[in-house]
Amino acid sequence: MNRRRIIAGNWKLNGTLKEALELTQGVLKALSSLSEEVEVVLCPPFTALSKVGELLKGSRIRLGAQDVHWEPKGAFTGEVSAPLLKEAGCRFCIIGHSERRLWFGETDSNVHKKLLALIEEGLHPILCVGETLEQRQRGHTWEIIRRQLEAALEGLEPLAAARHLVIAYEPVWAIGTGQNATPAQAQEVHAKIRGWLSTRFGKAQAQSIRIQYGGSVKPENAKELLAQTDVDGALVGGSSLQVKSFVQIVESSPQGRQAPCCTG
Ligand code: PGA
Repeated sequence: MNRRRIIAGNWKLNGTLKEALELTQGVLKALSSLSEEVEVVLCPPFTALSKVGELLKGSRIRLGAQDVHWEPKGAFTGEVSAPLLKEAGCRFCIIGHSERRLWFGETDSNVHKKLLALIEEGLHPILCVGETLEQRQRGHTWEIIRRQLEAALEGLEPLAAARHLVIAYEPVWAIGTGQNATPAQAQEVHAKIRGWLSTRFGKAQAQSIRIQYGGSVKPENAKELLAQTDVDGALVGGSSLQVKSFVQIVESSPQGRQAPCCTG
């Protein structure tokens, strides 16, 4: 199955508005002849979403947010809803990132509500799952990931999953540490996730759901990671903050090389 690769930049809490716009312009310029086979998503902080979205209009690069609240509106101080993200131009939204689980009390049940709220608005959740180093060392990797998947995707219809869902496997021990999972480690977990999706949603649906790898993806390791059968893209943190490294990662994707006629 030829799934369209998806490379997303998770900028986290980085960059002023000026820096966000410069980075966006740089990426737009460098990827002006991006292959249609690769989907690129930029996820800036909330305050930069609208302006970055304006710059991206008319291009093939998509806008994503880093979190969402599950209610559409109301007395929820500090929160941003799926309809507001859509209005800002977002098509994607990261949910369940391990930093939110670790620092901000994100629970599986909240991730589930966020996922449904995004799908209700026609947005694409990028659902992050992954184990800590201790969980891996104890041999609990799959048990943790299965629990995260089961909780987040409870009640989701197969068609909605196939149309909207993106999963990001992000081993917590690989995030921001410089120590990426090996391509074999990533492939092993991705294949298990795909197998689980197949049982849960059906084989055809599971084949169309994209599974990104995230955790210290860099230009030096992207090509090998992205060459794995079940690795359909990358969720990139640190290396997405520089035009050069992010573009190199996009171009490392098997389908990401720009046509020679159009580069330069
Ligand atoms: P990293 O972050 O690429 O800096 O490891 C990835 C992520 O947290 O999504």
